[in-house]
Amino acid sequence: MPRPRILVTRRWPDAVERRLCALFDTTLNADDHRLSADELRAALRAHDAVLPTVSDRLDAGVLAVEAPRARILANYGVGYSHIDVDAARERGLVVTNTPGVLTDCTADLALTLMLMVARRAGEGERELRAGRWTGWRPTHLVGTRLSGKTLGIIGMGRIGIAVARRAQHGFGMQVVFFNRSPVAAEALAGLQATQLEHIEDVLAQADFVSLHCPGGGANRHLIDAARLAAMKPHAFLINTARGDVVDEAALAAALQHGRLAGAGLDVFEAEPQVHPGLLALENVVLLPHLGSATRETREAMGMRVVDNLVAFFDGRRPPDQVS
Ligand code: DGY
Repeated sequence: MPRPRILVTRRWPDAVERRLCALFDTTLNADDHRLSADELRAALRAHDAVLPTVSDRLDAGVLAVEAPRARILANYGVGYSHIDVDAARERGLVVTNTPGVLTDCTADLALTLMLMVARRAGEGERELRAGRWTGWRPTHLVGTRLSGKTLGIIGMGRIGIAVARRAQHGFGMQVVFFNRSPVAAEALAGLQATQLEHIEDVLAQADFVSLHCPGGGANRHLIDAARLAAMKPHAFLINTARGDVVDEAALAAALQHGRLAGAGLDVFEAEPQVHPGLLALENVVLLPHLGSATRETREAMGMRVVDNLVAFFDGRRPPDQVS
């Protein structure tokens, strides 16, 4: 029986690539280039499984490829808004993701951004490296403390809850949140967090707003000009979810006009491009999509993909099938 043919769209951690090669007839992407739409189509035609990630756009146009051989898209990452899951289903393609294994690291990064922007760490480092630091003084780069402030979370799934725990237990923050469905009390065990009915209620109360909902679909520009205006003028916006959840042009305008204290962003609408208005601002911390970027987590994500593929090719339902 020939081994399933699989294609990995980007370089993955060595340990995972070795495991994939041991189990499957594996095509790797040695130079780690971003695959074009035509290369993705060719991959779907020639392989039983394609293993994409957030940098691959698998829209209806790509998935409409003639005579695909692929039967599964085993995504490396928890977010999969770069895949048109309806089009994939129509083409008979199963889609899987990698939930759970990146919760802690992504939550850590949300806290990193909160601290960096509130304590003006990026500004300070830029000043020091540029040789502009003239020494300690009481009024120098004075920021905002987290302790005692209110954190508003939009999307109270695994990552939102992990952020809330860090903020409350580590920094004594109050937590309010919006989630489309009620969040079970067991999931919130040990936390004092209040679910509010509308996003606007959260925006009106929070000193920090952290986004943890999926991207795409109805969540595109969930945080638009009107919702930015509903935030407190001294509040900070943190996004480690997906870039398209925020209207970047509206955010840049709100920051430029002092209608918001600052923002910490790990994700962008058109990665790797960043809105020029944001690049020009001091009170924005910009990171290159590092939420899950630890050795432990990136390996765990890859091994989770392996589990999904093994189950699929054994004729079982993959543990992380989303469509
Ligand atoms: C995720 O897992 O969704 C990360 O953002 C990388 O895609």
